[in-house]
Amino acid sequence: TEETLVLVKPDGVARGLTGAILARIEAKGYALVDIRLVEPDRELLEQHYAEHAGKPFFEPLVEFMLSGPSVAIRLAGNRVIEGFRSLAGTTDPTTAAPGTIRGDFGRDWGLKVQQNLVHGSDSPESAQRELALWF
Ligand code: GTP
Ligand code: MG
Repeated sequence: TEETLVLVKPDGVARGLTGAILARIEAKGYALVDIRLVEPDRELLEQHYAEHAGKPFFEPLVEFMLSGPSVAIRLAGNRVIEGFRSLAGTTDPTTAAPGTIRGDFGRDWGLKVQQNLVHGSDSPESAQRELALWF
């Protein structure tokens, strides 16, 4: 089996979509191993998003992630990394496929950062690194 870090980002929590997002994850059959509400500090976020340091959206992304709590989820199951990213949909919520979390609940709000509701680790190495930061 495999584990991944899922975040319901501040936009998802603020819009009251945590339950709807969790329902999709549970319906898909993955196991919730741990879950917590986290108010991350800048240091945690700069480590979490280290691969994006220096990109134009980096600072808006960190500010957005500081704007409110996120729900952090340790999720387990065979191929859960790939499976959750499929449930989430592609990064840009405007064009993410209907049926996905981002495609059904997300849109472009005209901001400097893409508010796309959820995060999911993109590899086993990222998952272990990110789980250690958030849990
Ligand atoms: P995560 O699951 O959040 O990591 O999303 P992702 O893997 O689909 O995207 P990526 O890791 O490339 O980017 C992390 C986050 O930065 C995204 O979820 C967006 O919120 C934001 N982001 C990524 N690319 C862009 C971009 O080109 N423009 C803007 N404005 N924001 C971006
Ligand atoms: Mg990513």
